[in-house]
Amino acid sequence: MTAPDAIIRLEPGGIVILDQTRLPAEAVERRCADVDELVDAIAVLAIRGAPALGVAGAMGVALAAERAPDGAGFRAALETDAARIAAARPTAVNLAVGVAAGLAAAGNAGDDPARVRAETAAAARAFHADEVDRCRRIGAHGAALFGDGARICTICNAGGLATGGYGTALGVVRRLHEDDRSPSVWVPETRPLLQGARLTAWELADLGVEHRVLPDGAIAGLFGRGLVDGVVVGADRIAANGDTANKVGTYGLAVIAHHHGVPFYVAAPCTTIDPATPDGAAIPIEERPRAEVTGPLPGTVPAASAVHNPAFDVTPAALIDAIVTEDGVLRPPFALGP
Ligand code: MRU
Repeated sequence: MTAPDAIIRLEPGGIVILDQTRLPAEAVERRCADVDELVDAIAVLAIRGAPALGVAGAMGVALAAERAPDGAGFRAALETDAARIAAARPTAVNLAVGVAAGLAAAGNAGDDPARVRAETAAAARAFHADEVDRCRRIGAHGAALFGDGARICTICNAGGLATGGYGTALGVVRRLHEDDRSPSVWVPETRPLLQGARLTAWELADLGVEHRVLPDGAIAGLFGRGLVDGVVVGADRIAANGDTANKVGTYGLAVIAHHHGVPFYVAAPCTTIDPATPDGAAIPIEERPRAEVTGPLPGTVPAASAVHNPAFDVTPAALIDAIVTEDGVLRPPFALGP
């Protein structure tokens, strides 16, 4: 399986990522040699998924420190670049959390640029290792919620690619598989960018987990035929009341699961919980470019038609049976505020 360092790593002179826009056709690395290149890689989803964005944010601060010229303007340049990285995508709170971790390391390192560079690089690598560890613990807690041979539905990709390592929702599946408990996974393709069909399927095939890819429109029918035992999804931001932003389509999946009495679980590290955001209405939802909806078939949408392309939606806490974190399984009512 893809090692954490193969998904994203900090090297002298740049951040190297496995380019997720090219998967599954080819496994190609993309080097971000400066902050502009990192912001672009984040914007096009070459690196994506909330925890992996957090790692990119922490590494981005180290990259910004490396690129900032020595001298009086060093710290201002670092902070300006850090703010640009944090703003590259608005919904996943992990990105801001990762940048904040990098800035905290910079703040503790004093005024010597060489020391700031060393400390931010060490902090970024530690942040990455921590996220992978959190996912392993999520996997163990989440696996205890499922019986043997569970037929699990997920959405988008919340696997190793999305977390810089083991995975959150797919971490649960992975743990079941490691324990020989024979999970099988329904994988909605996840229009428009097909993270399910391209990335989740790629990961599950590599792991040897039984799975089947389906059009998003086929989800309700699966539940109607009694073919799903439980749902587990990732999260981009969990508000203080438990309302959860995740890939667009997650809310619909939760409504369908609720209608059929199938448990709906969110799996996410505590770095995805945002105590400062009171509820889902306060979560910023990223609107993505028109071209993602009008492609990949040319001419699918008439030029005169407007497009609505939110990258995420918010699942109300009332539809969530549990939030699985590295520290254990939280049940409603959720009270995650400060
Ligand atoms: O737009 P993406 O591909 O970054 O969206 C990713 C998701 O919605 C994931 O489910 C979420 O970030 C959790 S990843 C463990």
